[in-house]
Order: sequence, then C-alpha cells, then structure tokens
Amino acid sequence: MTGTGPDVQLIDTTRPHPARVYDWFLGGKDNYPVDEELARRITAIDGGAPRAARANRAFMRRAGRMLAEETGIRQFLDIGTGIPTEPNLHQIAQSVAPDTRVVYVDNDPIVLAHAGALLRGTPEGVTEYVQADARDPRGILERASAVLDFDRPVALSLIALLHFVADEDGAHDLVGTLVEALAPGSALVLSMMTADFEPENVQRGISAYAAGRVTLVARSHAEVGRFFEGLRLVEPGVAQVSDWRPESTPEDGRPVSLYGGVALKS
Ligand SMILES: C[S@@+](CC[C@H](N)C(=O)[O-])C[C@H]1O[C@@H](n2cnc3c(N)ncnc32)[C@H](O)[C@@H]1O
Repeated sequence: MTGTGPDVQLIDTTRPHPARVYDWFLGGKDNYPVDEELARRITAIDGGAPRAARANRAFMRRAGRMLAEETGIRQFLDIGTGIPTEPNLHQIAQSVAPDTRVVYVDNDPIVLAHAGALLRGTPEGVTEYVQADARDPRGILERASAVLDFDRPVALSLIALLHFVADEDGAHDLVGTLVEALAPGSALVLSMMTADFEPENVQRGISAYAAGRVTLVARSHAEVGRFFEGLRLVEPGVAQVSDWRPESTPEDGRPVSLYGGVALKS
C-alpha cells in the first residue's frame, strides 16, 4: 500500500464525503452523521438515490466480469474505488482469472483506512492500493506502474468518479492522459451522473451536495460519449447503468440517473 496523501487520522467528520455518502446509500456502516444527513437529504429529494447507487454497483460487477471473461484483460486500474463493498472489483476479476493484477486509487482517507480489505486478493494475483487524486493522472500512472505493465492491456475503471470532477477541473485531461498511456487491447469503463431523465431532482441533489461543499456535475449523453472519443464502444454503447447488459429486471420502472459504458482501445 502506498500513500503520501492525508493520514487516516485526518478523516474529516465535519463535512460529508462522497465515499461515505455512497456507503450510506449502499447500506454500509462506514459513514458519519454528517454523511447520513446529506444522504437522507438527497433521498428526500430523490427517493431513487439508493437504488441508483445499487444499480451503479451492479454495473461495476457486470462490466468487470465482462472485461475479465471476454477481453482476457488481466490488469485493472480502478480510480475512485470507494469504501470496500463486496464483491469488490479484484474479487470479480480474480474469480475469472486468479492471476489478475489490480491497483485501486482513491483520495479519501476513509478509503485508505479500509484499504486492508481491498488487499486480500488471490495469492496468484496482486492487489495494491494507492492514495492519490485522480487530477494527478501522471502521478497515478507512475505509482501504478510498480504493479501494472502498461505495455500490456489494462482496464481503466472510473466508475461513479467523474461527476466529482468538473470539466474546468480537468476531467477530460485526466481521462485523456490515462487512456493515452494504455496499450492496444486496453479498456475504459466509466459511469457518471446525468440530468437527462429527471433534471429537477438531479439539480436539487447537486445543490444539496454543494451545500455540503461537494462538487457534483451532471453530464448529458453526448457529454459522456466525449470521454470515449478515439475508442470503440462495446454494445450497448453509453446507456443508463441499469440498461447496460442487464442480468435482472429493474427494481422499478423509474430511470436511473447514471450513464455507463465500456470501450476498447485499438
Ligand atoms: C461514488 S464513489 C464510487 C465508488 C466505486 N467506484 C463504485 O462505483 O462503486 C466515488 C469515489 O470517488 C472518490 N473520488 C472523488 N473524487 C476523487 C478524486 N479527485 N480523486 C480520487 N478519488 C476521488 C471518492 O472518494 C469515492 O470513493
């Protein structure tokens, strides 16, 4: 585990953090009253928020399994990992191929505090945790290269991360820098929030996050598609996460305000 970021002692319980709010939505226990308060406020605005978090997590599982099973990729770089929630990405990928190497990255000290749970991979594979900010993609590549061979295919996973990084904060630059470093045969999998379906609810949610000093941006279908420029999207392209190769019927008929997609690099 490598980290030059904030110490675990520096977990800030005075303001909500995205990883902990998401943990509350998923029914986890690794959150503080300030996170629960924001999560409850969001749920009061949009009762579908916990369901959207579950749908996003299920997208991560399906996309991770598809990449391991169908592309033969044996290396994953997962940025914006979140608090461990089983099954985690390494468990999915290593259940297909035990020798898979996984590097997790997050900038929240709460994730660092739980990183031990992320490091219990197969003896044949490698799992590593790096404390870093996604807005430093070159630093992440340098540190991840201690575990991952960037001359071979890598699946870059940015799931429910980019809605915390505005365009003016370098969202496209960071994706471009990371994708450029990937070898042919690599993949990009991402998901992020959209206001395409329920604009008023999503806008009120963004305001609630802003009141908690958390930046949240929603992007349209076309804007999400821009992150995949130069790559080959696999079917069904950019879709609501619940509609991306679904394996079960949706929890209800309401749309999920998150788009996801997977693309390959030629
Ligand atoms: C909603 S959680 C998603 C967790 C997991 N990827 C999933 O989809 O189930 C978003 C994660 O991104 C992390 N994050 C937000 N901004 C970040 C940044 N600039 N650098 C690194 N991680 C970041 C948060 O700490 C949080 O753990």
